[in-house]
Amino acid sequence: MQPLIDTFGRVHTNLRISVTDRCNIRCFYCMPAENVQFMERAALLTFEEIEHFVRVAVPLGLKQIRLTGGEPLVRKDLHVLVAKLAAIEGIEDIGLTTNGILLAEQALALHDAGLRRINVSLDALDPQKFEQITRRQGFEKVIAGIQAARDVGFDPVKVNAVAVRGLTEDEIVPFGHFARRTGVEIRFIEFMPLDADGAWQREKVLFADEIAAILEREIMPLIPRPGQDPHAPASEFMFADGVGHVGFISSVSRPFCMSCDRFRITADGKLRNCLFSLEETDIREMLRSGAEDSEIARAIRESIAAKNEGHEINTSRFIQPNRPMYSIGG
Ligand code: 5AD
Ligand code: SF4
Repeated sequence: MQPLIDTFGRVHTNLRISVTDRCNIRCFYCMPAENVQFMERAALLTFEEIEHFVRVAVPLGLKQIRLTGGEPLVRKDLHVLVAKLAAIEGIEDIGLTTNGILLAEQALALHDAGLRRINVSLDALDPQKFEQITRRQGFEKVIAGIQAARDVGFDPVKVNAVAVRGLTEDEIVPFGHFARRTGVEIRFIEFMPLDADGAWQREKVLFADEIAAILEREIMPLIPRPGQDPHAPASEFMFADGVGHVGFISSVSRPFCMSCDRFRITADGKLRNCLFSLEETDIREMLRSGAEDSEIARAIRESIAAKNEGHEINTSRFIQPNRPMYSIGG
């Protein structure tokens, strides 16, 4: 069958599935502080509906899945979904992006269900800074979650740290040492305009090159890691002595859209061909009205075919999507 290819020749093999828009913390770059309007329970795709969608997408070339939220671990029995997806022939890889708060409790069940790769979002190693960013407590739980994930055998466990100018500079060197001490890869992500409060400004983006320069000055030079996946958004480095891995997701300073292989489905079943897309395809409606699999497959193809060249954060044409990050899925 013809792969999921767009008009720029990009082949789409990677699906991010948001399983809920709810979250147990309130990171300022993603959620509003108060009165979040969450989706109703009935609006969410059921595990069976998610599985159905994935089974339609696999013959179109889908191979890798990442589960996201909101916070995916607040969705009850997530390991049951993992097991369903892991059983689908053609799915080679399932990952999870979590804030880590509930990870210590669930790590074993998730691993047993077939999950292998975990990214934990943690923006600060200073507990007070953590609370300032997340507007909640829970730092110790996240650290325990990272440890638990490693103990049960997840490999790799990576940490995603959003970098914000004027806020997280002091975290860079401690994260560098953390990477060296623990073997966990730290990936710094440039702050993107996907927050709910409209607080993003270009001036608040702490650029990957600046972070790398700080690490090189304060710890030691970085060298590129061999054998990198050309579709991975992070460019990956190690310290010159081979100890400690860091990566940079430079979404703003060096967009990687030309090698993008991703599409997304939101918790309420809307297919999006890009994090920043302004249009969606209502898959839930198709699933619930008994559409044929061939019609769903055609809708997926049409969505990918309509994908824009890339986000336009660096142009005056940029329009922030009306869904903030928690309701798209990171
Ligand atoms: N800019 C950059 N990264 C973000 N994330 C959430 N919102 C933003 C934003 N506005 C990150 C989360 C998580 C990943 C899925 O996306 O911290 O690590
Ligand atoms: Fe892919 Fe859109 Fe992200 Fe660019 S902005 S990498 S096209 S999802």
